[in-house]
Amino acid sequence: MISGEFKESLLNIYHGEQFGEAFYATLLAEADDESEKVILAALLQLETEGKARVRPFIVKYGLPAYDNPDSIAGGVKTARRLVNEAWQSKFAAMVDIIKEQGLPEYEGLWEKVCPEEDPEAAELAKFVGAHERVILEVCENVVNGVPNPASPLDDFLNFPIGADSLMSNKEQK
Ligand SMILES: [Fe+2]
Repeated sequence: MISGEFKESLLNIYHGEQFGEAFYATLLAEADDESEKVILAALLQLETEGKARVRPFIVKYGLPAYDNPDSIAGGVKTARRLVNEAWQSKFAAMVDIIKEQGLPEYEGLWEKVCPEEDPEAAELAKFVGAHERVILEVCENVVNGVPNPASPLDDFLNFPIGADSLMSNKEQK
């Protein structure tokens, strides 16, 4: 039996993915540098895949599966505040948001499920915790100037957007 607490947290997480999609899409729209665009697109992909992974459970538990306009507006607003910040400062701000708000909620989902009773929900909880950890890793990589900062996503994503995703000018012709 899945608890009300689990469902409530899962819906917050589902809305968090919508916030994240809007957030990265807004930053992407303002980006000029080609390698920065690929990193932001990979993070956007991560949020889209996160949303897709959670959605069947949202439907299963009778929760609202449509996009929440407030979450999307929040993502756009937060990104707009960062648009004029330097590249690394943007990611420093993301690290703070993830540590303060993301991780407690996403990793906390695991505490709200009994793996013996509901192995599928436990798998999902494990996934969302790993999802938030990998975003944190990428954001910290950018802050610390690690080369190819989004490379942890290459294995995590089902449909990866890696550093080599962009065709060279010659290939595009
Ligand atoms: Fe996310």
